[in-house]
Amino acid sequence: MNNLNVEKSVTWQCPSNLAIVKYWGKYGKQLPQNASISMTLKEAKTITTLSWESKKNNDQNIALSFLFDGEKNKAFESKLTKFLTSIAIDYFPFLMNYELTIISKNTFPHSSGIASSASSMGALALCLCTMEKNILRNNVSDVEFIQKASHIARLGSGSASRSVIGHWAMWGLHPNFSEANNEYAVDLTPSVHPIFNSLKNDILIVSAEKKSVSSTAGHQLMENNPYAMARYAQANQRIVQLYSALQTGDVESFGMIAEAEALTLHALMMCSEPSYMLMEPASLAIIKKIRSFRADTKLPVYFSLDAGPNIHLLYPENISLQVQTLIDQDLLSQCQNFQVIRDGIGVGPSIL
Ligand code: DP6
Repeated sequence: MNNLNVEKSVTWQCPSNLAIVKYWGKYGKQLPQNASISMTLKEAKTITTLSWESKKNNDQNIALSFLFDGEKNKAFESKLTKFLTSIAIDYFPFLMNYELTIISKNTFPHSSGIASSASSMGALALCLCTMEKNILRNNVSDVEFIQKASHIARLGSGSASRSVIGHWAMWGLHPNFSEANNEYAVDLTPSVHPIFNSLKNDILIVSAEKKSVSSTAGHQLMENNPYAMARYAQANQRIVQLYSALQTGDVESFGMIAEAEALTLHALMMCSEPSYMLMEPASLAIIKKIRSFRADTKLPVYFSLDAGPNIHLLYPENISLQVQTLIDQDLLSQCQNFQVIRDGIGVGPSIL
């Protein structure tokens, strides 16, 4: 940048992700109660620019100015200041020496109900790691760089740990995976069958309203959920089944696990205290239509959900035309303002 006030600046774009085996329940410093596996998206991204200039005073505080969509956003600014303060001493002590500006925007509409914590924390973590590389001039390898970015992203939002990795990522300890761990996500892609590397993921927007339970509050509900232990064991079993389906290209088993996981997540919310019902009548109507379309046509179309009412439609690229007809004829009428975000698996973040 040729701005005299700015010494350095970096921009990363980072996509969101959809967990197929879900992370729901955490402990300690953002550590997951079970392992999760996700696909990284392509279109739903956050683009973040971090700029820094030397501070004029010697105070030891985080000095941050935050703009979202070109406008100053005080609420996010104070959240991010808290976050940066919490990680600076341990991970980026140099941050205190600079005045920081973060400018962020999402490629998906504000009012789409799509959570942006994974993509935004991923993009921010990548910017911080690049800033560190520029300032310390250290020779970290690409692998170490991504590990640290994933670790930092995780401290911001658990699911963000997986967003810094393209295609297929796994986060959380699991006895069958020696590389997998609770600190950062690892790349599963080399073991995944090619059919899954062009998977589609269309997001049917049932409601763009803000979620009635935050993820953090949702994770907390698991602490008193009587099914919690059984759930964590089940998730770890499903990791084994999912990994096998991913390796062999078994789309049907993949789809069955994706649906079972989405419904389990919602069932856990329904039977928590207090109880949350995040599906809408239209979510159920869409689910039923997907299942009957599948029964009638034998085509491999499946659904997943995050902690909200919107439906992710998962299918291999080679049946895109048939799925398009399904969406147009049967599903679009259930979507708020006929909103569908056409997405699919993506290669992961990139520096701009
Ligand atoms: C349902 O990662 O948003 O999307 O760690 O509190 O920020 P925090 O939670 P978050 O939880 C994601 C929950 C989920 C499942 C998943 O992505 O694995």
